[in-house]
Amino acid sequence: MSIPRRTILALAAAASPLAAALAQGTMPKLERKANYRVGFAQTESNNPWRIAQTESMRSEAQKRGDQFVYTDAAASAAKQVSDVNSMIAQKVDLIFLAPREERPLVPAVMAAKRAGIPVILLDRRVDAGQAQAGRDYVTFIGSDFVDQGRRAAEWLDKAVSGKARIIELQGTTGSSPANDRRKGFVDYIAKRSDMKVIASQSGDFVRDKGRQVAEALLQAHPDATAIYAHNDEMAIGAIAALEARGRKPGQDVIIASIDGTRSALQAIIDGKMGATVESNPRFGPKAFETLDRYARGETIDQWVVVPDRFFDRENAQQFLADAY
Ligand code: AHR
Repeated sequence: MSIPRRTILALAAAASPLAAALAQGTMPKLERKANYRVGFAQTESNNPWRIAQTESMRSEAQKRGDQFVYTDAAASAAKQVSDVNSMIAQKVDLIFLAPREERPLVPAVMAAKRAGIPVILLDRRVDAGQAQAGRDYVTFIGSDFVDQGRRAAEWLDKAVSGKARIIELQGTTGSSPANDRRKGFVDYIAKRSDMKVIASQSGDFVRDKGRQVAEALLQAHPDATAIYAHNDEMAIGAIAALEARGRKPGQDVIIASIDGTRSALQAIIDGKMGATVESNPRFGPKAFETLDRYARGETIDQWVVVPDRFFDRENAQQFLADAY
């Protein structure tokens, strides 16, 4: 009696994770070509970081003469899934995806894989329990968000001599930077008995939402002495909220943040913000170099780490002109 291939694969998939991976098929290859048609599925364009990232990707594609198929998910994970599906329908050669949230974008990654189109994740991850680098997508190129949170906490620790009542402004709920920046920060301050997060809420990485959330949390916690924002835009919003309450940012309330935008560097120079850990948005050169390496059949690490600098009052002026 012959057993159908589909049944064998289903049985193998049920038997072990490795067999399951094999049953799901192998990673799509990328043919070597002089020029490619690449997709870039962006999450949103409502902050300087996203704009700088898109600009870096677009200008690198232009430099190489590659065709750039760009979509903006306008802060909707559902739209981003359909953006990727549309790129699949257009048969692009490869998709660069900045997944807005960890879980909702897994089906998009898997759909591209099934369609034979390689995916490179940029700056944010998808749920590692459901999709993995080297098996379902080529690699993840991005910063170490946990370390960014740790570095912000370490700076704050020194700035407040180990004593602070902290308001945390979280990034987009369910996104890898929000999850990891929280973890890095909270794990560090767990070692400091006098540093406490007294309130924590999402401002969705958006300046005005950051301002509104900071306003509400400062109202409820007038004794806060520090603010940790998961990105600079929300930190700038928090500065406005503090000033509206007649409190002096940088003096009454110490602010640490992440990104390294021009506005943040200026706020540091003005004494309103203490420090920002860089999260480098200029992905273009590294992203396309990785595409080339993949097309040449080279082995790509599961995580291509983007190194980040650190800005405080010692060097903010020096890097201001080059900031985005
Ligand atoms: O994923 C990186 C984060 O996304 C940046 O810190 C933030 O500004 C952006 O929206």
